[in-house]
Amino acid sequence: MKKDEKKTPSQLLSIGQVSKRSGVPISTLHFYETKGLITSQRNSGNQRRYPRHILRQLAVIRVAQGLGISLSDIREHIDKLPHNAPATATDWERMSSIWAKDLDERIARLTTLKNKLSVCIGCGCLSIDDCPLRNPDDRAAEFCSGAPSLDTATDDETTTIPQ
Ligand code: FES
Repeated sequence: MKKDEKKTPSQLLSIGQVSKRSGVPISTLHFYETKGLITSQRNSGNQRRYPRHILRQLAVIRVAQGLGISLSDIREHIDKLPHNAPATATDWERMSSIWAKDLDERIARLTTLKNKLSVCIGCGCLSIDDCPLRNPDDRAAEFCSGAPSLDTATDDETTTIPQ
């Protein structure tokens, strides 16, 4: 190879290279493979080899898992991507548009949680300053179980604790 010739990154990576580049432990890569989230091929030495585009798939899987999305949900969406070729921007767009509704609902619920941690959520604890106002004598117990104010992804406090 001539000195100034640019080294093209290999398009097939060993499991060690994938682990190093993605930050995903080898044992987890094996686990993902058993769950059908990623696939590999074997070289003449019967060693696993992964196409480089799997790094993007792994990045999406890791973030989605971090958001609490189940592996089966993730697999359902990953399955919509081409298997033997890098996914195009259109493929990712198609997948994200399907996933968007679910993600939006999660974002809304997380926002509700963030916004309501300091107010009464109607859970029956009667331990927050505005519980007497918003859930006097735990009136919510007459209508529901759980924390009605958190169960609905809405910031409108008056509509979530039955009066
Ligand atoms: S926060 Fe639990 S009843 Fe108000």
